[in-house]
Amino acid sequence: MKIIRLIDEMKKEMVRRRSRGDCIGLVPTMGYLHQGHLSLIRESVRKNSCTVVSVYVNPTQFGPGEDYERYPRDLDRDAKILTDAGVDYLFIPSNEDMYPTGYKTYVEVHDLQDVMCGASRPGHFRGVCTVVLKLFHITKPHKAYFGQKDAQQAVILKKMADDLNMEVKISVLPIVRERDGLALSSRNSLLNPDQRETALCLYQSLQLAEKLFEQGERNSSKIINLMKNHIKKKKGAHIDYVVIVNKNNLESMAKIRKGETLIAGAVYIGKVRLIDNVVI
Ligand code: PAJ
Repeated sequence: MKIIRLIDEMKKEMVRRRSRGDCIGLVPTMGYLHQGHLSLIRESVRKNSCTVVSVYVNPTQFGPGEDYERYPRDLDRDAKILTDAGVDYLFIPSNEDMYPTGYKTYVEVHDLQDVMCGASRPGHFRGVCTVVLKLFHITKPHKAYFGQKDAQQAVILKKMADDLNMEVKISVLPIVRERDGLALSSRNSLLNPDQRETALCLYQSLQLAEKLFEQGERNSSKIINLMKNHIKKKKGAHIDYVVIVNKNNLESMAKIRKGETLIAGAVYIGKVRLIDNVVI
């Protein structure tokens, strides 16, 4: 695996691989890799002749007072995991190269960026869209892989690629979970054992929603209230949001319709913010 740190070098390398006829798959990450990331990486290695994984904790998607500094990092471990997975390129750009002094350009996907995670993290998706668009330009992938874990991010990035007439094909892969159901996240490493136990309440509330749906309940507010009651019972868990929305346009749905509905939540466990969702 080749490790590249400079944008110019990455661009040149990708032009060369493209002209050689390679099919390029890109998996953007913020590192501290786990099996969730690996499911995307393995799919890219399987489906493309050249896989690029970027590891970059993107400062523009973190708000003031968020966990940019605390975000877990371990590049040596990540590089080993990626080598073993058969990745061709690890791209690790620097802040100075990505956002040099005088940087001015940002990308926004209106409306979709203002709800759910965007409501509590203003500017977050502007940062995500900007960095992903830059990564697309730098690596020129034929395909890019994202996880359903960040359902809103996936909807927004697909919309961005579509609206900006991009050629890249975006694949969204299922959520990978721990044995007990907790969605894998780099931030899980910031939880102490008690918090790790508490963190399960979000997934349990989603399971409760699925059960209520199976029993015939369709009323979103009723389901949301019962989910919130379940989470509130746990000491140390604070709800950011629980929503029931259309899985494609993120608009609220008063009634659940099979095949169209995303039930999503974000919960603070101490200072750690976790998200999860199910599609019904
Ligand atoms: P990060 O949180 O590192 O996630 C990188 C990719 O892995 C995302 O597409 C995310 O949805 C996916 N992922 C994370 N946990 C997962 C899980 N348990 N199951 C399946 N997929 C999972 O998301 C970001 O980084 C950043 O916002 C990024 C897109 C890299 C832009 O900076």
